[in-house]
Amino acid sequence: MLKRKQFIEKLVIEAGELIRERLHEDMSIEKKGGKRSDLVTSVDYEVERLLVEKLSQQFPEDSFLTEEKTVDLIESENVWIIDPIDGTMNFIYDQRDFAISVALYSKGKAKLGFVYDVMANELIVAQKGLGVTLNDKPLEQILPVVLKQSIVDVSLKTIRNLKIKEIADLYDLTPEILTNRNMGSAAIRIVHIALNRVHAYINDNLSIWDIAAAILILEELGGTHNFKGQDLDYNSEGFFFMAANNQKIYDEIKTLFFK
Ligand code: 2AM
Ligand code: CA
Repeated sequence: MLKRKQFIEKLVIEAGELIRERLHEDMSIEKKGGKRSDLVTSVDYEVERLLVEKLSQQFPEDSFLTEEKTVDLIESENVWIIDPIDGTMNFIYDQRDFAISVALYSKGKAKLGFVYDVMANELIVAQKGLGVTLNDKPLEQILPVVLKQSIVDVSLKTIRNLKIKEIADLYDLTPEILTNRNMGSAAIRIVHIALNRVHAYINDNLSIWDIAAAILILEELGGTHNFKGQDLDYNSEGFFFMAANNQKIYDEIKTLFFK
């Protein structure tokens, strides 16, 4: 596993350098499935191809589950789950707050997780059972917070969709917490819970590649989320996701605002 870990760390940093170069060049932008908010650029495809090509040369037995589907999933024991750019909207408009997410799963169970916040140059790496590092420095367990002191990352879009679907009404969340934010990258914000920068993350419409690496990082440092303890279903897309600093505030948010 150590060999794999070291190989991917180098590869993800190389992919980050490629993205930083491409920020100064023209790129094509498409809407996926005609949806206004679901964008993909030529750089997403280029980064995904680079990661898949280098990983498959090194580990020919392994298979891939990737957001941009440049390769088909032929399930083998080891599956690499890749989001080449998580936070594509931020990448296009803000040129910051986007990440490369790479995870290694074996029969539904997480083994390795890498989230690289490219512009902040923060590489967070988790190895199942062996903890987490940030730019090679080991991280401590999460510091628990109470709900009144918590910062929750949730978008207006999620608040609206959960209300329309009659799943939750988050309108009265603000008096119960410290404040809310919405950054626009699921992988980065889940990792930020592990880093004590925010304390909960809620999104009504995520897919496996958005969370696969970040949830291992979060679990290793004691955080919680709604799939904890379950094997990952490689085929799930468009699901509700909530992660939190600790089980108590997770349960409180559920009890106070969810039906
Ligand atoms: P993406 O940039 O890789 O698409 C935005 O709030 C967060 O939700 C991002 O992590 C984004 O990942 C993710 N997301 C998942 N599905 C989405 C969709 N259909 N439209 C916009 N963002 C989506
Ligand atoms: Ca993406």
